[in-house]
Amino acid sequence: MKIPQFPYDYIGSKAEEYDNQKWMERNQKRTTLKCIQYLFDKELGKDNNNILKNFPYLILDLGCGTGFSSEMIISSGFRVVGVDILSDMLMKANVKRKNLKINNLDLILADINHLPIKSNSIDHILSISSYNFITYEKYGKEKKKDVNNTAKYLNKILKKNGRVIIEFYPENDEELELFTDSFKHNGFDGYMTKNNPKQKSGQTYLLLKKKI
Ligand SMILES: C[S@@+](CC[C@H](N)C(=O)[O-])C[C@H]1O[C@@H](n2cnc3c(N)ncnc32)[C@H](O)[C@@H]1O
Repeated sequence: MKIPQFPYDYIGSKAEEYDNQKWMERNQKRTTLKCIQYLFDKELGKDNNNILKNFPYLILDLGCGTGFSSEMIISSGFRVVGVDILSDMLMKANVKRKNLKINNLDLILADINHLPIKSNSIDHILSISSYNFITYEKYGKEKKKDVNNTAKYLNKILKKNGRVIIEFYPENDEELELFTDSFKHNGFDGYMTKNNPKQKSGQTYLLLKKKI
């Protein structure tokens, strides 16, 4: 699969195109459902009973785009705060919210690397096909520092027993390690899984939980 180019594939007419593609909607919603199931993953630990206590959770959808992922999370019974850095994408999510009369969705125009979210306020975090873009135009030490700071901040805004499920497309093993290390060194346990374990790049899932 060709990895879309950020931000060019998500602005102006491209945002419109993205939102109108039925196969994209199907893919994003299918992947979101898989990530919701991963929230209850047994390998993440035995605290599944605890994480059920706060139901319905408040879920932060990082890089919510035009809202396919948020819509799926809401239809699974959760409340959602969707965050995206591009107004062209977010405006389409807002249209959906109004047309479908969705009440459980708040939308924020913001950068995942600089989230305006209160500490200890989010139950769980999901991110579908967006997290690899957070290093856009960042290199070397600056890239590493930013990825680490973001992981640290995600830890801070999560409540106790909070989990983070990320589906994304790291470019290569080095980039995958950069992301996994950022979580390992900033208060998370968990593991990485791929549909095709032999692939070096490509679709990857990070299943993480906040350390107690
Ligand atoms: C594949 S799209 C959206 C996927 C979305 N989950 C859906 O269901 O439609 C990726 C999104 O990530 C957003 N994005 C990229 N970098 C970002 C950042 N640093 N902060 C917030 N959003 C970002 C893009 O603007 C784009 O809307």
